Amino acid sequence: MSDATIHIPVLAQEISELGRPQSGQTWVDGTAGGGGHCQLILQALAPEGRLLAVDRDPAAAERLESVLGSGATVRHASYDEIPDLLADSAWPKADGILLDLGLSSDQLADRDRGFSFQMDGPLDMRFDPSGGQSAWEWLAQVDERTLADTIYRYGEERFSRRIARRVVESRKTEPIRTADQLRELIYRSVPGPRRGRSRHGRVDPATRTFQALRIAVNDELAILERALESLPDCLASGGALLVISFHSLEDRIVKYAFRGDERLEVVTRKPVQATAEEVTRNPRSRSAKLRVARRLAADGDQSAST
Ligand SMILES: C[S@@+](CC[C@H](N)C(=O)[O-])C[C@H]1O[C@@H](n2cnc3c(N)ncnc32)[C@H](O)[C@@H]1O
Repeated sequence: MSDATIHIPVLAQEISELGRPQSGQTWVDGTAGGGGHCQLILQALAPEGRLLAVDRDPAAAERLESVLGSGATVRHASYDEIPDLLADSAWPKADGILLDLGLSSDQLADRDRGFSFQMDGPLDMRFDPSGGQSAWEWLAQVDERTLADTIYRYGEERFSRRIARRVVESRKTEPIRTADQLRELIYRSVPGPRRGRSRHGRVDPATRTFQALRIAVNDELAILERALESLPDCLASGGALLVISFHSLEDRIVKYAFRGDERLEVVTRKPVQATAEEVTRNPRSRSAKLRVARRLAADGDQSAST
């Protein structure tokens, strides 16, 4: 990864308006990535506020160390570890916690990470390549049924069984180690237009399977569920929890976690989406959905600041 980020933060104005970061506050960016949201939050917190910037990707964390100023503390960790990170550093409860889920444009553009089916490279797909199993290692040993279920559940791909069968057949003769290999297997398994969007605007069929593998390899949904359970207790009364998701599986988890949580008041009854102007400027924002909730005053706590 180079020093300069190519990632454009989504829904920046909406985050400022709904999160209301203010001078002197304490904030956490749990998916700091290229640091775009961090910079916006830091400006609002100046001169005395502080920001904990967390990312599971060691390369992103290293770069954040060099680009964020002294108001920020950077940690290479997963966002479900935020409660421990705050406790270890004896930080006060947060006035805001932001999660901007998924992967950054920097990661997508890095062919060595294997996130994109549009460029060949090793099929790694780990947010943290320093631990755990890469996508190609996982594909080498997963049984056909689990693979089909994963592609169906996490990719919402109706040809999941065909793709899984072809992967299992193919790996008998040659291990599947690259993005190109997997993409070609998907194209051969799925009927209809293969590359790019069809005339009817449907997405490339490889999108769904690549998404499913990434979610599985990084255990993304379980981490999100765990974090939504614990993060409300890291918030000060009135503190905001803001979550941006990019597909319906994540958004559903956020929606029901917020709704069923007695510690939270839901601020956004419907998810906030990018304006047409933002989508033109940054097409990646098209699928972004922001949900915001605020921490209700805990028993005996009169200090709610909303
Ligand atoms: C959409 S990007 C965030 C971009 C960021 N908001 C910005 O303005 O540049 C998502 C980031 O979340 C990170 N990530 C994914 N899963 C994570 C996890 N469980 N814990 C911490 N970071 C995670 C990825 O490594 C990636 O850098």
